[in-house]
Amino acid sequence: MTTGPTRLGSSLSEALGRLEHAIFDPTRVEENERLAREHEESDQRAKRRERLDALGIELEKNTHRQVISNTGLKNTTSLVAVQRWLTSQSNYPMAVLTGNRGCGKSVAAAYVVANWDRSAAWSSAPDLIRVFTGNFGDQLKRQDTLKRARLLVLDDVGTEGDAVRMTATLIELLDERKQRKTLITTNLSKEAFLERYADERLHSRLRELAGFVGDKGPDLRGQP
Ligand SMILES: Nc1ncnc2c1ncn2[C@@H]1O[C@H](COP(=O)(O)OP(=O)(O)O)[C@@H](O)[C@H]1O
Ligand SMILES: [Mg+2]
Repeated sequence: MTTGPTRLGSSLSEALGRLEHAIFDPTRVEENERLAREHEESDQRAKRRERLDALGIELEKNTHRQVISNTGLKNTTSLVAVQRWLTSQSNYPMAVLTGNRGCGKSVAAAYVVANWDRSAAWSSAPDLIRVFTGNFGDQLKRQDTLKRARLLVLDDVGTEGDAVRMTATLIELLDERKQRKTLITTNLSKEAFLERYADERLHSRLRELAGFVGDKGPDLRGQP
């Protein structure tokens, strides 16, 4: 006749056996690793989506999906450049992506925002001029945000009407942002950029702080 302790002993050893099986079963281990990976990836996707949403960055549907999942994006000159810029410690704090319309500059900037885990701000060039033309409470607050964010994207510089105001604004921003990352996108070539903002005070700061990237890629709009 089996006694209590023996029964307990046998069910304990059965449980241990199952546990051992669970721990050392290689397919179970693989499955657990796969689930952990999936969990981590879905976490990362949610974070990327939140970061784009927080700054109101809108992308074409398919591109949005690619940026969020970090898969399927083309290795454009702009994208490869910002990936290096993001990871390298010794790099310039400022990068200027130059290139024709549609080559992928704003998408590369969105990629940076999506993968950036500190404070970030985004401003189109016309918006920047509006913010820096005036001293109302909201404008001052926004100026402060743009100066202080650990990452600032200035999109489409050159499309603003007032180049003189942009020159002064860039000088003001750069003086505050020597230790922070600033990414500019522009349809102007480097030469045209320097000519439009022809002020030695700005040029010397750019020489010190900025790396220019010339993206010669084709217009990717509407391409599969
Ligand atoms: N790295 C990329 N991979 C796939 N498609 C891209 C990529 N970059 C840009 N595109 C496509 O090209 C379009 C234009 O890109 P965008 O970055 O807005 O150009 P711009 O250089 O004018 O800022 C995007 O809407 C997207 O469809
Ligand atoms: Mg753009």
